[in-house]
Amino acid sequence: MPDLEALKKEAAVRAAALVESSMRVGLGTGSTARYAIEEIGRRVRAGELTGIVGVATSQASDALAREVGLAVEPLDPRPLDLAIDGADEIDPQLNLIKGLGGALLREKLTEVQAKRFIVIADHTKLVTRLGEKAPLPIEIARFGFLSTIERLRKLDVGGLGLGGRLRQPGAQPYLTDNGNYIFDAQLPEGTDPAALERQLKGLLGVIETGFFLGMAERAFVAGEDGVLELER
Ligand code: A5P
Repeated sequence: MPDLEALKKEAAVRAAALVESSMRVGLGTGSTARYAIEEIGRRVRAGELTGIVGVATSQASDALAREVGLAVEPLDPRPLDLAIDGADEIDPQLNLIKGLGGALLREKLTEVQAKRFIVIADHTKLVTRLGEKAPLPIEIARFGFLSTIERLRKLDVGGLGLGGRLRQPGAQPYLTDNGNYIFDAQLPEGTDPAALERQLKGLLGVIETGFFLGMAERAFVAGEDGVLELER
C-alpha cells in the first residue's frame, strides 16, 4: 500500500499542474499543501512558470514559499486565480472541515477570494458527514476565552450543547498566527453544518470556524488506485 505521504504528494502535484504563468495563487497550509508549494516552486525554478505571485495562508507557508523561490504578497482585495489547500474532512458535496493545522482564519480569508479553490488530500479525509472523524476547529478571541467557551457549550446543537475542548498541546493553549485560541468542537451526528455555522458566526468571541461550505470547486484525492478528481 502506498504510504500517505506519497499519496498526498500525488494529489498536490495534480493540483499544482493547474497553475499557469502570471497567476496569483493562494498557498494553503499543512503537510499536503506543503507538497503543492514545493511543486509550484520547482516549476518556477525550472522556468515552466513565470510571474507567479503566492498569497500565503500562514507564516509557515509564507516562509516555505520564499524558501522554494516564490514571490509572496499579502492578501489584497484582488481576486486570486487559484487557491490550493488541504483539508481535514471532505464530504460528498466537497464541504470541508479545515483548521487542525490552526490556519483556518487566513485560509478562509484567502480561499474565499479565489476564482477556483482546489482541495488536495489523501483518501483518509473523505467522510460521509462533517465531524465524522475530526473535530471542528473554532478560532476564538484570547480575551475572555473562558466566557466564549461557556457560550459555545450552551449552544443548542440538535438538543445538545456543543462539546469540545480548548486546544492545548502543552502547558499553554495553542496560539494561532493571529494571536487567538482554538476550541476543537465535537459535532454530534445529525449536525447541520450550515445552521451551526450561522449560530457560531453570531456568537460573541468567535472569530471564525473551520467549516468551508460551498467553497471548493474540485478535489484531488489520492488513494491506492490513483488520484480521484471530485467536482462539486
Ligand atoms: C490548516 O489549518 C488546515 O486547514 C490544513 O489544511 C488541514 O489541517 C490539512 O492538513 P494536512 O494536509 O496536514 O492533513
